[in-house]
Amino acid sequence: MITFKSNILQTLNKNEINFQKNIYITIDNESGKIVSISQNIPANTHYLDYSKYLLIPGLIDTHVHLSQYFIRGKQSPSLIDWLNKYVFAEEKKSQNDQYAALVASSFFKDMIKSGTTTASIYTSVFKNSTDIAFKTADKFGVRALIGKVMMDCNCPDFLKEDSKKSFDESVELFEKWNQKTKLLDYVFTPRFAPVCSSKLMKKIGDFSSKNNAFIQTHLSENWDEMNWIKNLFPENESYTDVYFDNGILGEKSILGHAIHLNKREIDLLEKSQSKIAHCPESNFFLKSGKFNWHKISQSGIDFGLASDVGAGTILSMLNSMKMASFRQDLDLIELSEIFYSATLGAAKVLSKENLIGSIEIGKEADLVFVSGFNLEEKTGEEILSELVYLWNEKQIYSVYVSGNKLL
Ligand code: GUN
Ligand code: FE
Repeated sequence: MITFKSNILQTLNKNEINFQKNIYITIDNESGKIVSISQNIPANTHYLDYSKYLLIPGLIDTHVHLSQYFIRGKQSPSLIDWLNKYVFAEEKKSQNDQYAALVASSFFKDMIKSGTTTASIYTSVFKNSTDIAFKTADKFGVRALIGKVMMDCNCPDFLKEDSKKSFDESVELFEKWNQKTKLLDYVFTPRFAPVCSSKLMKKIGDFSSKNNAFIQTHLSENWDEMNWIKNLFPENESYTDVYFDNGILGEKSILGHAIHLNKREIDLLEKSQSKIAHCPESNFFLKSGKFNWHKISQSGIDFGLASDVGAGTILSMLNSMKMASFRQDLDLIELSEIFYSATLGAAKVLSKENLIGSIEIGKEADLVFVSGFNLEEKTGEEILSELVYLWNEKQIYSVYVSGNKLL
């Protein structure tokens, strides 16, 4: 057992900030779970005095590209131009095991330093790079969903996969890694509809529904992309309909961006209980547009925040919170809802709300201690506002996943 004395800041729903000062939190090392949260010191207990720090739930990134970690900050006029100019060439480099290992270790090291304890990760089309990402995640002790990117058409020959091979290799990785440890899941990763045949998408959808597997992809990010979809799938009434038709939507499907949606698309996503990963900094960077936060929030679709590195420039989910606020240039998002979308709301997107996302008895101890706050005479709201707008990466003092100290 290990006990901390600290100050919890969290949101247990979209509307309320929960701030508790000088609280004793006890973790069972064996199970990695929180076993007690109390205002009093549990009897005969030594505790670590972290009372000058803020304690927040481990932050959750619902959409990020590990294999793009080294090409952040490459300005481009739009998504397709950026993919062709920088991304595909970079992802090819992960064919080399040494390079893939270097990218993975840099990525997870920085992910921990930014206070992110869970991420849903895209690698490259290469099976080995995905295998290496899993091994590295396991070594670093983070919680991760990881998937091999799938592309079997309309992309450069050096990345284009044979359709059957793409599927078979993904299933192999699923069988090897999905829930191999309690921290790891496999996520099927068809990059986006323009580069995946219907045949491939249907096989993924079918496998996923039979095996309760995660799927992640991109949806409705950019106007060029949407015009491309119209040409490729003229019989479908919308981009979302393409995924619906090919069996990609569902409770365990995480759709990145989802910016330019009409009412019917929102209904399709809601009915299928699909989830959205909102990537505010990336949407600024690639001039993709404004995510309709309030409409989606009112629709009942679960959505969470995401860095979308390498179109995001930094892994920090504190940065994503700030960008989410700024992205809604004329409308206010309540601080509680911003924080929720990087913690418990994001956990819901990954179907892990019973395990992570908040600091409660019975949950896994994924914890982040943050330094540099004067906690005296401040409300939870004031402190959260400072966390969102004045954050600094150096303030991430200590990070735990499932009770294990990673930083
Ligand atoms: N759409 C298809 N691939 C990608 C990618 O790698 N990044 C982003 N932001 N959008 C995509
Ligand atoms: Fe992305």
